[in-house]
Amino acid sequence: MIDLDELVNNDGSEQSREIFWNQDLYQLEIERVFGRCWLFLTHESLVPNYGDFVTSRMAEDEIIVCRQKDDSIRAFINSCTHRGNQVCHAESGNARAFICNYHGWAFGTDGALVDIPLEQRCHAQVNKEDCGLPQVRVESYRGFLYGCFDADAPSLEEYLGEFGWLLDTWMIGAGNGAELLGPPSKSILDCNWKVPAENFVGDAYHVGWTHAAALEVMGGELAGLAGNRADMPFDDMGKQFTTRHGHGFGVINNAATSIQVDRADYDKFIAEQLPKVAENLGEARANLFNGHWNSTLFPNNSFLYGTNTFKVWHPRGPHQIEVWTWTLVHKDMDLDLRKKIQKGAAFSFGTAGTLEADDGENMMTCTYSNRGSVTRRGTIRSTMGLNHEGPHPDYPGIVGASFIGETSYRGFYRFYKEMLKAENWYAIRDKDDSWDSTFENRDFWKNHPTAS
Ligand code: FES
Ligand SMILES: [Fe+2]
Repeated sequence: MIDLDELVNNDGSEQSREIFWNQDLYQLEIERVFGRCWLFLTHESLVPNYGDFVTSRMAEDEIIVCRQKDDSIRAFINSCTHRGNQVCHAESGNARAFICNYHGWAFGTDGALVDIPLEQRCHAQVNKEDCGLPQVRVESYRGFLYGCFDADAPSLEEYLGEFGWLLDTWMIGAGNGAELLGPPSKSILDCNWKVPAENFVGDAYHVGWTHAAALEVMGGELAGLAGNRADMPFDDMGKQFTTRHGHGFGVINNAATSIQVDRADYDKFIAEQLPKVAENLGEARANLFNGHWNSTLFPNNSFLYGTNTFKVWHPRGPHQIEVWTWTLVHKDMDLDLRKKIQKGAAFSFGTAGTLEADDGENMMTCTYSNRGSVTRRGTIRSTMGLNHEGPHPDYPGIVGASFIGETSYRGFYRFYKEMLKAENWYAIRDKDDSWDSTFENRDFWKNHPTAS
C-alpha cells in the first residue's frame, strides 16, 4: 500500500505520479474523499415542483434527488433494497413513486418502501420500514444542491467556509443570484478525476499554449495569450485563491466574458449589474464579478464563471471519468441572453467544445503516461508562484499574486492529503486553525501593496 506521507509533499507543491494511476489509492479516495465531502447533485431550479426528480451520482453511487410535498429536497440511493436493481432509469422527470422494474417493489418520493407485490403471501417477513432507499444528507447553498454520505461532516455552509463568501460574488451578485440550465450534457473521458479538477482549480498557465488556436479564432482579451506571445506572468491582471478544504480559483480581471463569442449583450448585462453588486457586496467582490474565473470546489465540482460552464467530474475507476456539464446563468438574465450563453458554453466547453477538445487530450495523456511502472516512480510539481502568496487585506484564504500560478493547486493537494490521512472529520477540524501554515510568506501582500 502507498505511503501517504510520500504521496504529496508538505506544502502541496510536489505529488507522486501514483495519484493518477494507483488502484488502491483510488479505493481510498472513494472512501475518504468522496465518502466524506459534499458532492454536487443539481440545482433547485431543475426540480421545482413536488415529485420532480433528477438522477445523479456521488462518485460511483447512483442517487435520486427529489422534491418533496413540503417543498424540501431529499436524496437517496438509486438501488432497490430487494435485489439491488436500479429503481429509476430516467435522468429526470416527475414521479409519484419509483417502482422497481425487476419485481415491482414501490418506493415513495421520499424513498420509503410503500408497496411489495404479493406481500402477504410471499414477503410477510419483510419489515417495510427497514427497507427504504438509504437516505443521503442533502443541503443547499444559494440553490446549489450538494449531498454528503458522512453524518459527522460539517454543514455544507461550513464546508464551503470562506469560499462561500467568494462564491457569493455571483451566487448573490446583484441580488437574485444564479442558476443552472439543464439537463447536463454527459461524456466519457479516459483520465483520472484529479487531472481536470486541478486544471480548473488553478491552471491559467496552459491557456495560451493548449488553447492557442482557439484563442486566435475567438479574439477578445485573451487573444494576446495565444502561443504565449505576451510577457507572462501578469502580476496586475488577476489572482489565485485557495481556502480551507481545498477549494480554489483563479481570476483574470475585467475579462468575465472573454471566451464568449457572441458577448455584447452579456457585457451589457455585467455593466448594468456591477454597481448593484458593489453596493451589495463591496468593491472587492465587484472586481471579482467582472473577472473570468476558473475554479474547483473540492473535490470534483468545477466551473468557469464568465464562460459559464459548470461541471462535475464523476470518477469511474482511476482512469476514467464521466463529465456532466450544465450552463450557469444569472437569474436576472432574459431568455434571449440565457440562450446565447448556453450556445456559447456549448461551443467552448460542451462535449464537442473547441476548448474542451483541446484539454481532453492532455487529461488523457497526463493519466496514461503513468501506466509505465518506471515513469510512475517519478514526481510531478506545482511550484509556480511559491511564496508569492499569502493572506490578503481584502480577501479571505491565501491569495496568489498572479492568475498564472499554482497557489490553488497547492491548496487542493494539501487538503487532498489531509483527507486521505485523517481518520474522521474530527481530525480534520483539529487543523482548522493551522490549515494555511505551509504558505510561508505571511507578509507577501504587506510587502507588495501595489500588486493588490
Ligand atoms: S430487485 Fe427491485 S423488486 Fe426485486
Ligand atoms: Fe483548458
